[in-house]
Order: sequence, then C-alpha cells, then structure tokens
Amino acid sequence: MTITYYGHASLGIETAGKRLVVDPFISKNELAQHIDWQNLAADYILLTHAHWDHVLDVEPIAARTGAQLISNAEIVDYYAKRGLKGHPMNHGGQWNFDFGLLQYVHAIHSSGFADGTYGGNPGGFVLQSRGKILYIAGDTALSYDMKMLGTQWDFDLLVLPIGDNFTMGYATAVTASEWLGCPRVLGYHYDTFGYIEIDHQKAQAAFASKGKALILLPIGSSLAV
Ligand code: NI
Ligand code: MN
Repeated sequence: MTITYYGHASLGIETAGKRLVVDPFISKNELAQHIDWQNLAADYILLTHAHWDHVLDVEPIAARTGAQLISNAEIVDYYAKRGLKGHPMNHGGQWNFDFGLLQYVHAIHSSGFADGTYGGNPGGFVLQSRGKILYIAGDTALSYDMKMLGTQWDFDLLVLPIGDNFTMGYATAVTASEWLGCPRVLGYHYDTFGYIEIDHQKAQAAFASKGKALILLPIGSSLAV
C-alpha cells in the first residue's frame, strides 16, 4: 500500500491496482494549493463523516472519475440523490471490496452536512489489503473502542488526528497508539486552521518519549506500508 497525504484529513491510497481517495478537502485548503486535485485519479472515495472539511471536493472528483463512494448509509444516500453511486456501510460492518477488506468503525464526533442535512454517525475505517492493515481514525476523541480494535486487528499503521480542539490532540494520540497496539502513526487533521496548529517538534517528542514514531508528511508526499 502507498499512502499520500493531501493535507488536513485527505489521503490517497494505492493498493491492489486501485486508487482510493479519503475525505477530499483540497481545493480550499490554503496549505494544499500545489496539489493538482482536479486531475486526481479515484476508483473509490471513502468518507468518514459529512463535515465540510472532509467532503468539500467529493462531487467534482466523483463526477469526473466515476468513483464509487463508501461511507455511512446517510452520507451515501445524500450523494445518491445528487447522482453519485455509493456503497453504504455502518458501524462494525465489513465488506470485501476488490481492493481489500474494509470495516467502518466508531468515532466520537458529529456528522452534519454544511446545509444542515443529517450525516449519520461519524466513523473511521480499518483497511486490510495486500497483507497490511491500516486504521484511519477519522475525526475522533480517544475512545475505549480503540482497545477493542487493538485486540481485533494487528495494525501496520495508524492514521490519527493530532490537531486537538475538534479531535484528540497529539498527547492523547500517544495513548490511542498504545491502546491500538501499533507504534507507527501518521498524523493528520492539524495545522489547517488556527484552532488546530501544533508544534511539530513537541508532537514528535511526545511519541518518541514512549518509544513510538509520529510521521508528519509534507503535503503531497507518500509513504509505503
Ligand atoms: Ni469533523
Ligand atoms: Mn474535521
């Protein structure tokens, strides 16, 4: 699996010959203006919840690429009414897609669309593909469910929010890493807005002091899992 960071909570994942885009919010992210999102390839678009800073670029990308949406039932239904195809899931459910096994899991957050439409319950994803297991937390607080996930899955990489204020911060994410049973963390959902600006060195030191690694990718950069 190759994971590319597009800024904020936006990711690209290439695996099993498929291209997944997660929570596309690029066009209005001032830190990601060098990303050519209008030519981004996508077979699937995974959405953790309905907030504006996670779904802003869904419609243009899906309309251009024909990508299939994967999210909770309410979000998939919302976009179905706008002519986009999708695969609805809900908490605890998993499905074998042609790129791998995906489970939609619990997140502690909220999930309303910008226009006030109910966006179901927020979530995250567990992705098992090509022998690797990835956890994408979505926007979430620390939760005891992470201990349960840590017993169910042998994660190779965790993608955790670290910006605080709207989600857990990096200090709490160290505990999440402990509970999820994986020391390798890609941080996301930080620096985009004033509320979530962090000190990178302090964040990485907090992980290092517990024998863990916090990866902070430059926007547009990739890592292999
Ligand atoms: Ni959110
Ligand atoms: Mn968010």
